[in-house]
Amino acid sequence: MIVEAEYRERREFFSRKLKRNSVAVLFSSEPKTRSNDTEYPYRQDSNFYYMCGFTEDRATLLFVKGEEKTACYLFVYKKDKDEELWNGKRLGVEQAKERFDVDDVFQQSELASKLKELLVEKKRLYYDFNLDYSKVKLLKRYAKNVESFHNAATVIEKMRLIKSPAEIALIKKALKITKKAHHRALKKVVKCRYEYELQAEIEYLFRKFGAQSDAYTSIVAAGNNANTLHYIQNSAKIEKNELILIDAGCEYDYYASDITRTISSSGCFTEPQKELYSLVLAVEKEIITMLKPGVLRSDLQKRAEFLLCSGLVRLGILQGSVKKLLKKQKHKKYYPHGIGHWMGIDVHDQAPYKTSKGKEIPLKEGMVLTIEPGIYIDKNDRDVPQKYRGIGIRIEDDILVTSDGYENLSKGIKKELKEIDSFNS
Ligand code: GLY
Ligand code: MN
Ligand code: MN
Repeated sequence: MIVEAEYRERREFFSRKLKRNSVAVLFSSEPKTRSNDTEYPYRQDSNFYYMCGFTEDRATLLFVKGEEKTACYLFVYKKDKDEELWNGKRLGVEQAKERFDVDDVFQQSELASKLKELLVEKKRLYYDFNLDYSKVKLLKRYAKNVESFHNAATVIEKMRLIKSPAEIALIKKALKITKKAHHRALKKVVKCRYEYELQAEIEYLFRKFGAQSDAYTSIVAAGNNANTLHYIQNSAKIEKNELILIDAGCEYDYYASDITRTISSSGCFTEPQKELYSLVLAVEKEIITMLKPGVLRSDLQKRAEFLLCSGLVRLGILQGSVKKLLKKQKHKKYYPHGIGHWMGIDVHDQAPYKTSKGKEIPLKEGMVLTIEPGIYIDKNDRDVPQKYRGIGIRIEDDILVTSDGYENLSKGIKKELKEIDSFNS
């Protein structure tokens, strides 16, 4: 759980980063229509959530900075009996004043007039440049005297790069549930006839153990479907002796987990499946051991590409000198994606990879990233020995960078061949 004092610290840090004579506005996200009058489950805007932990819609955080001091105001939707009858209780102004350590709380209906008044006197305006157009229009209407516009998200994203102990605890909690779900998949796989049955087993455990949601749509891809990187149909029949790539992670209290395991539909790997799997696993393990402060993600990428390319040559999938193959990017056909990404409130955490000057940001203590090498061989790829065709493998773990190395936060999720092969026999 993240306590109000931590949110307050974040707001204070953000305030210090604002230029003098400015206003910063952060909006809650808009409810999203699914169809006609039904909506997707509401999820708070990640940056807004990071700054206050408030999960209601129609709320706004407003920072007003003078020469030095900054005031922070929260606007919340009013308590309204009729609305609460349908959609549940709201905090309202009075309770919000008790919960949030801000300078004042107002009703959301007062926001427009407050903005109008403030934007006459302040010269700079911060807002998230990804904001819905309707809100941008509202801001611009009042911002006639504003001299410069700044992206509030750029400031917050940098803060989100380094996770606090409370955030790490939530990621660990999400992973604890995700671990149970992947282990259930391993146990149930031989009984599942369709990809969606396996998906249901996994997501059942997400909910059973208190995760509010998946962190992204689960990928359950049997056989050749694993070669579609973001396959989410999960509708195909599972055949005998296929590998099934399962990329699934729950979200717990707004923190993601992102885990891929590749298992066998019959519980036993064939020899060619073992060969490819062992290669991906060896690469994943080696890359993880490289993690420590100061390391560049691009170095991890290069090393992963070198190791995978060398392995592909060894197995006769690519021919020629590894150096030349890498230079010509021939390996990209079988490993077309990145080695990993930041993870946190978003599965692909909205945090920068480069400084504003374009320099790559090295790993630092407190960062959390995924490591996820893979090999994907299409069933119709005639350049590859028949025995390897139609196999897609990815193995993905979530790693915390520590002061002198790393902690694999998903360490307990089975991935060794001896653990997952013959699991059911
Ligand atoms: N689950 C999406 C990814 O691995 O990046
Ligand atoms: Mn990932
Ligand atoms: Mn993933």
